[in-house]
Amino acid sequence: MTHGFLGAEPLLPDATETAPDKPAPRPALSEVGAGAPADALLRARYREAATPAPPHWNAVIGQIVSHRSVRRYRPDPLPEGIVETLVAAGQSAATSSNLQTWSVIEVSDPARKARLAEVTGGQKHILEAPTLLVWLADLERLGRLGAERAQPVEGLDYLETLFVGIIDAALAAQNAVLAAESLGLGTVYIGALRNDPERVARELGLPAKVLPVFGLCVGYPDESVVTGIKPRLSPSLVLHRERYGEGFTPEAIAAYDAAIQDFQGEQAIPQVPWSRQALARVAAPQSLSGRDRIRDALTKLGFALR
Ligand SMILES: Cc1cc2nc3c(=O)[nH]c(=O)nc-3n(C[C@H](O)[C@H](O)[C@H](O)COP(=O)(O)O)c2cc1C
Repeated sequence: MTHGFLGAEPLLPDATETAPDKPAPRPALSEVGAGAPADALLRARYREAATPAPPHWNAVIGQIVSHRSVRRYRPDPLPEGIVETLVAAGQSAATSSNLQTWSVIEVSDPARKARLAEVTGGQKHILEAPTLLVWLADLERLGRLGAERAQPVEGLDYLETLFVGIIDAALAAQNAVLAAESLGLGTVYIGALRNDPERVARELGLPAKVLPVFGLCVGYPDESVVTGIKPRLSPSLVLHRERYGEGFTPEAIAAYDAAIQDFQGEQAIPQVPWSRQALARVAAPQSLSGRDRIRDALTKLGFALR
């Protein structure tokens, strides 16, 4: 396969470079890079049926809209200083009340990554990527500060404060993802670490009141593998104005099922309608890969969940 992760390279062929008698094969719609024109990127993101009119645009938005998860990596380690840069990007995200209730652990030891991959049902990209960043909702730091100052920290026992930590961790991680992508790196989140949060906590030596929210593989994409832009639901289903509206239509879902199957065809992966996949994921507790017991796991990790 010739098309890899394309970073900032626009991929749509320039018509002037195409001999009229031998048209170059049209690249798959999903294979546009961050530098491609707005309309090409939005067509990849939404496919024809739902593509919005050309919006306000700049290089930052091009980078954001060209996101795709990467699950095949070159073995090269991350260059010196990259993790620090990603952490600076993460720490630049907004944080609830400036509490900064998150931390991150860099895991690059192959044996440790392999043990963490076991928790996820053996996701191979964790072994392949040189680094796994584990993002934590971290209420321990404030707990420790309170203990040091002999001050009460009862607010840490409320579900709301755990929300704060989880939201903070997610915002920081997404900033790091964008920073990584802008440097030509690929990433994929690993929510499956929550299949067994206690085992992850033991592996990483987490104190009480620290939750592994998700992992994030980071590495250079294997350029011999196509990694396309996965379409999203029509904005008509997602964007409501003033009040929750009547955006839901079976037609919009059907159009998205078709878009996803086009994408899957381009990526040579099994074609399954999104609606079927999504409903299967929420059908029953067993569909949650062990995460149906998350409340119990949180209690064991020291969260009172008041
Ligand atoms: C919180 C979170 C957890 C995820 N967990 C996993 C995971 O465990 N394994 C995996 O391969 N992808 C995981 N993903 C990636 C999603 O499958 C992916 O973002 C989604 O299919 C959309 O594709 P895209 O990121 O390429 O646009 C996760 C994404 C998020 C945001």
